[in-house]
Amino acid sequence: MQTVLITGCSSGFGLETARHFLAQGWRVVATMRTPNAELFPASEHLKVVALDVTDPASIQRALAEAGPIDVLVNNAGIGMFNALEGTPIEVARDVFETNTLGTFAMTQAVLPQFREKKAGTIINVTSTVTLRPLPLLSVYTASKAAVNAFSESVAHELAPFGIRVRVVLPGRAPTTRFGENARARIGDFPAPYADFAGKVFEGLRDATTPTTSSSAVAEAVWRAATDPNCPARIPAGEDAEIWFNA
Ligand SMILES: NC(=O)c1ccc[n+]([C@@H]2O[C@H](COP(=O)([O-])OP(=O)(O)OC[C@H]3O[C@@H](n4cnc5c(N)ncnc54)[C@H](OP(=O)(O)O)[C@@H]3O)[C@@H](O)[C@H]2O)c1
Repeated sequence: MQTVLITGCSSGFGLETARHFLAQGWRVVATMRTPNAELFPASEHLKVVALDVTDPASIQRALAEAGPIDVLVNNAGIGMFNALEGTPIEVARDVFETNTLGTFAMTQAVLPQFREKKAGTIINVTSTVTLRPLPLLSVYTASKAAVNAFSESVAHELAPFGIRVRVVLPGRAPTTRFGENARARIGDFPAPYADFAGKVFEGLRDATTPTTSSSAVAEAVWRAATDPNCPARIPAGEDAEIWFNA
């Protein structure tokens, strides 16, 4: 039986992906900052483990508790909407700590076991905004574009050890907690950007445009984990497919 460890399983894509792998009969190590096993159906194949990807001691404890794994899904992430002028550098640093360095640190932490057994798959969840950038998302987009570039480089370095690296790029998913959490991180928009920001948000609220569901992301991660011939970058969601193929 194969084992997957997924970061950021308290909600959204991570939660749906963990449920999907469980339903497919995998062992699942569902990690989150505040463990809550009630989010899942009872299963002897499930371990819910505390993990903060920005904390090296937490990473080491979680991996020790997880035991051997076959697939790592770096899904934990935070959003950030604001004009660059309204973004304090410490907020930008937090976004990079979680989205970018958190992914580097988790990848680094699983490498010894993957290298030793000459197998393993690392799946990094980034975003289609890295392919078609939008305004007010410069810091977030840069944090995820760095993960795309990291994934492509490290994939070459790890291929000789039988380790695969894949990137899943979701589109916009209004049903997860992402937008709400990102909004909580916004200070006030700088006054010169307020009208423009209002129009951008109006566009984002347009209910007629296609979006991404959590199940589309779970299916894309599943494909990345189980199809040895899947491409290095996989779009997830109807809008993501459109952007990806434009
Ligand atoms: N929703 C979208 O439109 C969208 C589009 C493209 C890509 N993405 C990316 O998809 C991933 C999942 O997002 P989502 O939409 O499912 O959002 P979400 O519902 O807000 O889920 C994000 C998850 O990341 C966790 N997390 C945040 N900081 C963490 C840390 N330091 N250590 C461990 N876990 C942490 C959160 O846990 P807590 O409960 O502890 O906060 C939560 O479980 C993210 O990487 C996001 O950037 C989202």
